[in-house]
Amino acid sequence: MSTPAKASSSPSPRQLFVTTALPYANGNFHIGHIMEYIQADIWVRSQRMAGHEVNFVCADDAHGAPIMIAAQKAGVTPRAFVDNIAAGRAQYLDGFHIQFDNWSHTDSEENHVLAKEIYLDLKKAGLIEIKSIDQFFDPEALEGKGMFLADRYIKGECPKCGAKDQYGDNCENCGAVYAPTDLKNPYSALSGATPVLKASEHFFFKLSDPRCVEFLEKWTQDGKLQPEVANKVKEWFSTRTNADGTTSTGLGDWDISRDAPYFGIEIPDAPGKYFYVWLDAPVGYLASLKNLLDKRKKSGGIDFNAYMANPNLEQYHFIGKDIVTFHTLFWPAMLKFSGRKTPDNIFVHGFLTVNNGEKMSKSRGTGLDPMKYLGLGMNPEWLRYYLATKLSAKNEDIDFNADDFMARVNSDLIGKYVNIASRAASFISKYFDGQLRYEGDTTYLMQGAISAAVLVKESYESREYGKALRDIMAIADRINAEFDAAKPWLLAKDETQRIALQDICSKVLHGFKLLSVLLTPVLPALTEQVAKNLFNLDRSFDWTDAAPLPTAIAPYQHLMQRVDIKQLDALFEAPAVVETAPQATLDKASTSAVSIEPLAPEITIDDFSKVDLRIAKIVNCEAVEGSTKLLRLTLDAGEGTDPEGNPVTRNVFSGIASHYKPVDLIGKHTVMVANLAPRKMKFGVSEGMVLAASSADEKSNPGIYVLEPVVGAQPGMRIR
Ligand code: 2FM
Ligand code: ZN
Repeated sequence: MSTPAKASSSPSPRQLFVTTALPYANGNFHIGHIMEYIQADIWVRSQRMAGHEVNFVCADDAHGAPIMIAAQKAGVTPRAFVDNIAAGRAQYLDGFHIQFDNWSHTDSEENHVLAKEIYLDLKKAGLIEIKSIDQFFDPEALEGKGMFLADRYIKGECPKCGAKDQYGDNCENCGAVYAPTDLKNPYSALSGATPVLKASEHFFFKLSDPRCVEFLEKWTQDGKLQPEVANKVKEWFSTRTNADGTTSTGLGDWDISRDAPYFGIEIPDAPGKYFYVWLDAPVGYLASLKNLLDKRKKSGGIDFNAYMANPNLEQYHFIGKDIVTFHTLFWPAMLKFSGRKTPDNIFVHGFLTVNNGEKMSKSRGTGLDPMKYLGLGMNPEWLRYYLATKLSAKNEDIDFNADDFMARVNSDLIGKYVNIASRAASFISKYFDGQLRYEGDTTYLMQGAISAAVLVKESYESREYGKALRDIMAIADRINAEFDAAKPWLLAKDETQRIALQDICSKVLHGFKLLSVLLTPVLPALTEQVAKNLFNLDRSFDWTDAAPLPTAIAPYQHLMQRVDIKQLDALFEAPAVVETAPQATLDKASTSAVSIEPLAPEITIDDFSKVDLRIAKIVNCEAVEGSTKLLRLTLDAGEGTDPEGNPVTRNVFSGIASHYKPVDLIGKHTVMVANLAPRKMKFGVSEGMVLAASSADEKSNPGIYVLEPVVGAQPGMRIR
């Protein structure tokens, strides 16, 4: 469904507030996150090229029991845990040219204040109700503090088929749906203890209130949502499935509270009660925007409340299909009945599968690791292009197929697009000193470019990126065909044909500029290079650059490499399997499995602090010619940049070649001894040492295990 521009008749720019879903701050991004960000980034870039004003924000979704528990396991506060994860975001976002204006987190001051305000407004509107519910409680969880258990933390035997170790809401063996209280022999997945039923007061948002139902029926069915999304939502107004598998009619009330201990925002006037993470998560959209505008306000920018009060402001959320309920029911209702602006649309995408259907799990991205992709030196714009060719306005799954990826990128970007410039520019530089000249009437060239830009821009607007790129490649085909038909290689051999040669090359380069403008939302870095290095602009392209005829070019500089099959092989190669003793033996700590060497003599803390241990990122790793033992590692330990802006790195040799393939280490973080005196070796100087664990008795366990920190640790951080 296309998004009509509210201000289309007025020359003033559209005001757009755009978000992607806030990722949980309990792990690094997987390819599903990156796909969503790229989808939104392309849309935002296209709007900006039209001169519209966009605030594109995101944030870490910081709250909830899983993050609280993960932090406890890691021995840090939840906030420190989240901050660690957040510190790792930029390398992905910058790496894939995803240009958010702000990245915040939902434990921010702004979010605490806004979530409470919205809640109090809903309460004032009579839409909050307190009910007592019975819930399983684990008396031993959290080191004996105890906690109420979400369904995912309760396990037991399926009441229907008797399968063991099933979760509290459904059976993976027979598919039965039930309430956690139906499980036989329930136990807590956190502590193993038998949970007890305990009553607790919970706060509910009364979605079943006729005001909410009436509003949501209109809001979801007025034609703005994608048809397949609107149809799905429609079903929820008539039936819903309860926890015990029974069905009820109409919208149910929404449980928005959780009992302490919980990492979240405390509910006003309700000590020990916290907002359920999904209450304050979408508020994080507003909080991140406020955080951005407050920063800008210091230099004269607009106030958050004034910005939100603009009747022409358009608000869009890009999300995945698994979180439609929250965004089409709870979130609009929260906004509406707290007296705030409701979203103009929710743009829903499907899941990304890799190499034919392996589903990207939310918690465990599989298949295509975005950091490994970057670590292998693969061009981020290949991925942007490939994903864009697959994306449409439909809420449907798309597949990343390695062979298709290589064929598409090599044939479209190199074969059809880049080659136009490399061929035509070389004639222009060689025979015409970079000057372009067009023979005859050129109106058709400019008009054609304008029509193409209008068509493609509209496809971006309606998120039909696949169509946009098909249209762009059809134009590239026409330009190539016209160029080939003119036989420039023959014209170049005949001095009397100089005018014809300059004319066709100029027209083709005009076409190349047009293609570059059209591709700018998808390939921002490449086309910026084209704008600046070939067409002598001092900025990136915008839509108005599509038509004008360029008059000169600078000498052609190499633009893009082809995808190499070896890179794809490396990307999808399973990590090296390191032989270990069987897990059961290790778990029982049988001394025959791993021999534990005696402790070294005691040292003081001062002795320890002499060793400067740092987190380092393995930016490259390669075999060492002439050595079967060593790998050469290039480590970024956060030591700044050299005068050319490249990160300062260290060269370290490590005797781990028998256990690791270089490609399995690239992109990983590890621990390096940073103040070890450099050591001259046969193959070069080693400027540090990476830490690895090994057994004293190689026979029982010959493994060498390079240390890798918990996700979130950043190059340069000191280990204390
Ligand atoms: O599903 C998720 O990953 C959630 N963290 C998305 C939250 S989106 C928004 F509501 F914050
Ligand atoms: Zn079962």
